[in-house]
Amino acid sequence: MKHIAVIPGDGIGVEVTREAVKVLETLKQTCGLQVELTHFDWSADRYLRDGVTLPAGALDMFRNEFDAILIGAFGDPRVPDMKHAADILLGIRFGLDLYINLRPIKLLNEKLTPLKGRSCQDIQMVVFRENTEGAYVGVGGTFKRGAPEEIAIQQEIHTRPGVERIIVAAFEYAQQQGRRKVTMSDKSNVMTYGHGLWQRVFKQVAERYPNIQSEHMYIDALAMSMVLNPEQFDVIVTNNMFGDIITDLGAALQGGLGMAASGNIHPDRVSMFEPVHGSAPKLAGKNIANPMGAILTAAMMLDYLGFADSARAIERAVIAAIDADETTQDLGGLLSTTDVGNAICNRLEL
Ligand code: NAD
Ligand code: IPM
Ligand code: MN
Repeated sequence: MKHIAVIPGDGIGVEVTREAVKVLETLKQTCGLQVELTHFDWSADRYLRDGVTLPAGALDMFRNEFDAILIGAFGDPRVPDMKHAADILLGIRFGLDLYINLRPIKLLNEKLTPLKGRSCQDIQMVVFRENTEGAYVGVGGTFKRGAPEEIAIQQEIHTRPGVERIIVAAFEYAQQQGRRKVTMSDKSNVMTYGHGLWQRVFKQVAERYPNIQSEHMYIDALAMSMVLNPEQFDVIVTNNMFGDIITDLGAALQGGLGMAASGNIHPDRVSMFEPVHGSAPKLAGKNIANPMGAILTAAMMLDYLGFADSARAIERAVIAAIDADETTQDLGGLLSTTDVGNAICNRLEL
């Protein structure tokens, strides 16, 4: 039995997670999927009510009692500084040392991509986003705050072990999955120290994998090429912030943010799975958000937990629903969030 913590969070996070949970419950009932779900209400509501974000002891609880964490999204206009989101989302990523942010960019039906004349074969890349360093470490400060000459400093941190382990993870994945190429992307022509370290480590690690092609591309050129020539990419490895940005672009290639899944992973440890999108306050409460990204995220989680057959079954059901236009408005369909969840459950076949 695998134990899963479910944290729906805010806005559409709650609505799409409900559908992902519905899919998991259906697999439990129909195929005896061995998972047990425990729900946590950590969110903007909870924070505004009693000040709780990530409670003391939560990380130890995850380490000791859970195999995976399924998250919706965090972000609420009533909490402009994102305090609860930073504490919970980044708190779990950093606190559990989930150094791999694995974000597949996979087109499931060619009608979903905004690119002209592209097939599913053309859009099949996987991004390895470094998840514990870079611009996300919160190191910096302000000087003469509010003054006309105010100074703000925000540091990027890149450590050799941190850079090496994410690059190794990308090459290992490429080897295990039979992928042909790893592309490392940075801005080392300008960020000569931090991203220069990425360049040096990448070359060293690449030598250990002679069967896998390695290439380097500056992030600006990579962004353009993802649109113009997506078929050239296989596995992409990059730093935390660039990974954040290019995976929203990647989501667009797959049909929009509502389609993109992700995992925050430390191999063999409790890991956290979340759709790439946020809480989309404008869509919240209307039952119109696309739950497919969250449902595909649940599939990624099951794959990680060793339930590969169930994961494949979910992906097949999502593809079948898309083929039949059982989709929300963002994909051109007419169904509600709930109806898409139901349609996918109805199409589940092991
Ligand atoms: P967002 O991803 O929430 O939404 C951007 C736009 O993408 C939406 O307006 C909508 O048009 C579309 N979209 C996103 N998800 C969709 C879905 N499931 N179905 C249909 N359309 C969808 O990004 P944002 O508006 O920049 O951020 C909103 C809040 O979410 C902010 O507070 C932000 O910090 C937070 N955020 C949280 C996470 C997370 O928790 N993992 C991720 C990104 C943003
Ligand atoms: C994501 C989000 C987060 C990030 C925010 C909400 C902190 O954009 O998961 O992509 O930047 O990592
Ligand atoms: Mn993002």
